[in-house]
Amino acid sequence: MNKRMKLAVFISGGGTNLQAIIDAVNSGKLDAKIVLVLSNISDAFGLERARREGIPTAIISRADFDSRDRFIEKFLGTLSLHGANFIALAGYLRMIPPEVIEEFHGRIVNIHPGPLPEFGGKGMFGIHVHEAVLAAERKTTCVTVHHVTKGYDEGSTIATREAPVLPNDTPQSLQARVLEIEHELYPEVLERLATSLNNSTEDA
Ligand code: GRF
Repeated sequence: MNKRMKLAVFISGGGTNLQAIIDAVNSGKLDAKIVLVLSNISDAFGLERARREGIPTAIISRADFDSRDRFIEKFLGTLSLHGANFIALAGYLRMIPPEVIEEFHGRIVNIHPGPLPEFGGKGMFGIHVHEAVLAAERKTTCVTVHHVTKGYDEGSTIATREAPVLPNDTPQSLQARVLEIEHELYPEVLERLATSLNNSTEDA
């Protein structure tokens, strides 16, 4: 049975990690197909990155549904319609509905731009992570790829990669250094996960 990774990438913003994943697929470094890019924000620039590659996109926001049931139905229905069997969060700033986590159990991952659990949790995203790392006077920080469970940033860690914190760093300079590492690490980890999906014995 073909267990090739059919990836849905969830975004809320610029999508530079999405771009790194697209580039890795296009260059053959990541053996996966991106079947969907899903955003909760209609003008997220990452959607444009997907469109210019011909990747299907969907905008699904809770605010557009009059009931939670319809929202969940649309969410799961869209993933199923596009044949997704794996989800990579890449700057997606919404809680994943528990129904989706159950359906994709063990097959949802996230990238976080700092050490977990110390620099994670609600409100700890984007530049706030780097501000907190600097405020704590850490000498190093890291990128963390982890499984997604029902709590924010609580799933087990799959991989980390360290980055130095330099004496004159601002949150922005640190963010730029960490982002470069994210772009290397995320496609590499996804490739490992794609290989184990391919080799898995459970029915796809
Ligand atoms: C990245 O720093 C990622 O670690 C975090 O959100 C940011 C998304 O950036 N989860 P981008 O949209 O991929 O450029």
